[in-house]
Order: sequence, then C-alpha cells, then structure tokens
Amino acid sequence: MARHDNHAWWQTSVIYQIYPRSFYDVNNDGIGDLQGIAAQLDYLSDLGIDAIWLSPVYQSPMYDFGYDISDYRRIDPVFGELSDFTRLLKEARARHIRVIMDLVVNHTSHVHAWFKDARTSRDSPRRDWYIWHDGHHGNPPNNWKAAFGGNAWEWDEATRQFYLHSFLPQQPDLNWRNANLRQAVKDEMQYWLDLGVDGFRLDVVNFFIKDQRLRNNPLTIGHTPRPYDLQKHLYDRNRPENLAIIKELRQFTDRFTDRLLIGEVYTPPPGDAALSASYLGNGRDALHLAFDFSMLYCRYGARAFRDAVECWYTALPEDSWPCNVLSNHDQPRSFSRYGSGSGAAPRAKVLAAMLLTLRGTPFLYYGEEIGMADGKIGKRALQDPVGKKYWPLYKGRDRARTPMQWSTQPHAGFSRVKPWLPVNPDYTDVNVARQTEDPDSILNFYKNLIALRRTKPALQHGDWTYINNDVAAMAYYRSTDDSCMAVWLNFSRRAKTPVVLNPHRWEVVFGTHKQPGTVLQGFDFHLAPYEVAILEQLK
Ligand code: NOJ
Ligand code: CA
Repeated sequence: MARHDNHAWWQTSVIYQIYPRSFYDVNNDGIGDLQGIAAQLDYLSDLGIDAIWLSPVYQSPMYDFGYDISDYRRIDPVFGELSDFTRLLKEARARHIRVIMDLVVNHTSHVHAWFKDARTSRDSPRRDWYIWHDGHHGNPPNNWKAAFGGNAWEWDEATRQFYLHSFLPQQPDLNWRNANLRQAVKDEMQYWLDLGVDGFRLDVVNFFIKDQRLRNNPLTIGHTPRPYDLQKHLYDRNRPENLAIIKELRQFTDRFTDRLLIGEVYTPPPGDAALSASYLGNGRDALHLAFDFSMLYCRYGARAFRDAVECWYTALPEDSWPCNVLSNHDQPRSFSRYGSGSGAAPRAKVLAAMLLTLRGTPFLYYGEEIGMADGKIGKRALQDPVGKKYWPLYKGRDRARTPMQWSTQPHAGFSRVKPWLPVNPDYTDVNVARQTEDPDSILNFYKNLIALRRTKPALQHGDWTYINNDVAAMAYYRSTDDSCMAVWLNFSRRAKTPVVLNPHRWEVVFGTHKQPGTVLQGFDFHLAPYEVAILEQLK
C-alpha cells in the first residue's frame, strides 16, 4: 500500500469534488466536460489537492443530471468519450492526483438496458433486479413517498405491476436482495477498477435495501414542502441488512490494491453521526469513509461546530477514519449558509482552517476554495427537477451548481457560450484569476494551508484533543508522538483573550493575523475577530 507514516493515501489526502457539468467547458457547448477537467489539472495540482471525485459522467438521459445512469460503462457524450476519461486518469496520475468516480447503484435510469429488459414481462430474467409489486386494490403497495415528489411507486401498464423509485420515476430502484444484480454491479465496478480508477463514492448507500415486507412508514407531523419528510423512514432506508451488502462490496473492492469506498449516508437535518458511523462497520470491513451530514447542516458558531465534531468523533468505531465536508452539490454552499457582508470572507477562512485541520479526510467542493456563493437562479433558468417540482417553497439545487468562476472573462471564463446554468454575477470580483494574484485571498489561504498540512504529520493524522476555553473560540491540539500543533479559530466577530495557552512556548506557523515565526508563551495570547492561528509547540 502507498502509505504515509502507516496511513493509507485516502487518510492523508485532501479530496476535491468536481461537478463536471460546471467545472470547465472545452468544446464550448455551455457544459463542462472531461477535457475541461484535464485542462485544469495544473490548477488543481497547484491548489495541492490529492484526489478528485467526479459527480457522474456515465451515459445518462440526465433527468437527474447523471444520477440516473443508463450505461455504467459508457461516458456520456456531453462529457466526452472513454478516451477522454483514460487521458484524464493518466494526466491526473502524472500529477499524483487520484480519481474517484461516483457510483449510483441504488437505482439506474429507466432507459438502462437492465430496466428495459425487466419491464418487458414478469418473466424477464432481470425482472427481479428491480422492485416490483402488485397494487393494493388499484393503489400502490404501501405509503412510501419519493424523495423528489409523489408516490415512490410507478404503475407499469404493460406488466400491470408497480415499480419502486426512491427518487424520480425515471430512477427505478435496484433490488439488492438479488444475487445476480449484486454480481452485475460488481462487474461494472470491476470495469472501472481495472481501468485504474482509485475508488467510488457510493450514492445514497443507506437506501440500498428496503424492508422485505414493504411495511408502511409511520407518519410524522411538521411543516415541510415535501410529503416525503412527513414520514419516519423506518422501512425504506437504513435497513439492518444494508450493512451486509456494504461489507460484500468492501470485500470485492479489497481484491484490488489501494482503492477507496466512500458512501453518502443521507440523513435530513440535523444529521445523524451515529448512523453515518455505523456504515464503517468495525472500521475495517465496511466503507472506508462515510459522509456525515451534521456539519453540512451546522449553524455557524464555535460551540455548534465543536458539538458536531465531538459527536462525530465519538460515534466512530475504533480503527475507522473520519472525513469532513462542508459543501456538496445537493446543499447550499457553506459560503452562503453563513451570511453575507464583510464577515463572509473571514468566516470562510475560519471554516477552511477548521476543515483542513480537523482529524479526518477533508472534502472540498469546487469553488469553495474561492468562496463561491450560491447562484441566483430564477424560475425560468431552473434545471433541477426537484426545484421545478417544489418551486418556490424549495428552489432546488441549481444554486450550488453554477459554473466555476475562473476569470473576469465573459461567462467567468467557464465557456465561450452561455452556460447551462447562469454564472453568478459576482464573478467579476470572485474568480480564480483575481484571487491567484491576491496574497490575502481565500484561494491563497487554502493553498497555503494545504501546503502546510503536507509538511505537518500532526495535522494530517495526529490525535485530536479539544482545548477547553471560556472564550467560545474553537481550539484543539493535533499531536503525534513527537510534535504538537494548536489550532485556534475565533468564529466570532469579537476579539478574544484566551486565558492561557499552556506553559510551553509556541511558534505561529500559519494564520490570518499573527506573523509566522512569532513565539508566544503563557498569557500573552489574543485573538482578533475571525482570527485563525495555528501554532506549533517548540521543544
Ligand atoms: C444523492 C445525490 O447526491 C443527488 O444529487 C441525487 O439526486 C440523489 N442521490 C439521487 O441519486
Ligand atoms: Ca462542453
């Protein structure tokens, strides 16, 4: 195994999520593509990340922008061809960047050959690869709802049964209880693993197995635009049998060298660290990494984040490894979640410093490194089917998916033509080109901190201990046997004076206010508003 002080590559890496439609458009059709990603590898390498995770690039009718796959072995023409993918892999590897694909196998597209086959007749050999059921006096088999609206059951007139879809009707759920289906999925995985892909992010990994008896979900009450949220999802997700499936996929993946399985354990706010952690098995036999949503839902503040982090770390099984994430393609961007105005950029730096110095693998979402904000998408520009369904109560996910802001060129330098989603008009200020030149930019803050992280094993894999302090700043030590770093994060717009460091001498190695090289001791410690200070204990 490629190891760094006995750690696997995915434990010491910084991983960068790319939403390919919105990253960089080389053939100028308004949609980002694989050649575009390849063209920006130098940018990514300069940023210092170690791996990219691509949201789906497989062939898809795009009802859910690639999360509805119609052929797992083909690249969708909008993104390029297989040769573009293999070239990307090769060029990424040349820069020591690993490539993780998204694997969407809770469901396929309704035009996938498997589903087309399954719906030809009740006797189709692939019938049981999906979840079919008779109606109940003309009604669906149970009360389950689809996350993207309506019933979870769609009537199929030709074969006179319902099929299950946890998301859109164009996304029929696979039946993971069927051994042939499981083998077929492994064959698709093998195809990419043989090509050299470094791992998969498993989409909604906690939805795979449904209750065998299809029991009704209990109802809850509340105010929400989605009927889906008015049920307790006891029977359509997080079934106990799910873990056995994950373990089977892990065993399969372990036949290849050094690959990663990361799973999206979707939970509604406020998140559920214990549930996410349960998908890590004993820490060695299930997912390598699990996304927990608690920090994506966290309100801004030192205490709120400390509580979320402590809860997450406490929930983790021994021998497992945490990962941490603040933004993805389904949630409002972290930059926008925590308010606008002059404090926004300093807050983004506080969060970046936290993300990159917590224990666990950090995931960045494209544009987070320049403080990209949610776009403003009017009704007519909407693309996300969920936004279209629930507008204006819920405006959908397009806002977190607007084109990457590269420069002050038209369309933010993303494309020469009008992009598939409008560029955020703030691109004239917020863009890569500008921030590259500005030493105090969010981009350079990320770059410098990622570079520092590489040189400090304590930040990459040291233990994490919270520093109790009565100033409501978040502070912690990261330590290995022979080094200790202290991270102080003032989430507040007020200045703070921590009582005492500890009796040692500390050298500032990174931060927003104090000069690197400054030596601090004892009581002589103040934090400016939104200050980040990373200190190393002197021997
Ligand atoms: C979670 C993905 O992140 C989201 O974008 C997608 O719509 C659903 N799963 C369904 O695949
Ligand atoms: Ca394109």
